[in-house]
Amino acid sequence: MTEPADSLGILEFPDPRLRLRSAPVTEFDSALTGLTDRLLETLYATKSIGFSAPQIDHQQEVLVLDLSEDQSDPQIYVNPQIMSKGAWGIVEERCVSVPGLVGNVFRATRVRVRAQDQHGTAFERNLSGMHAVCLQHEMDHLAGKLLVDRVSIFKRLRIRARARAKAKMVEAESENHPVAAE
Ligand code: NI
Repeated sequence: MTEPADSLGILEFPDPRLRLRSAPVTEFDSALTGLTDRLLETLYATKSIGFSAPQIDHQQEVLVLDLSEDQSDPQIYVNPQIMSKGAWGIVEERCVSVPGLVGNVFRATRVRVRAQDQHGTAFERNLSGMHAVCLQHEMDHLAGKLLVDRVSIFKRLRIRARARAKAKMVEAESENHPVAAE
């Protein structure tokens, strides 16, 4: 079973923290490996193919990918930078932080990325297909950009209305079950 997003501390649209720009990582220490471990755990718990640090309220340039069927290809990207892009196409994307939205997005399907691993070792890699798309989606998170910004105005309005209705429901529920103060 996929665990619900809120029990994992995943931020959801329209949380303003998802709009913050992440800072580059400068310390390659145990706090960073703790973060990359937690990102991979969250990735697998939500059955996702990519996950970024800001989604769990760490505004640092860190993301993870695993597009394998059996969790056998965990990839960690710290301070990623796209060196070149090509082969553009329309792809369908989802995001755990924007529940209920399936968006068609115009993306490069071939990228060359430069990044560091969790120990600070630099590498460059060519990615193609969903791999390339997923990396760009997660890099959007590092820039405070969300899937909802890349879809049509109609979808954007619908997803905003849904988020508002959900917030109201949570509010109403806490009013129905007041926490005793005395
Ligand atoms: Ni996402």
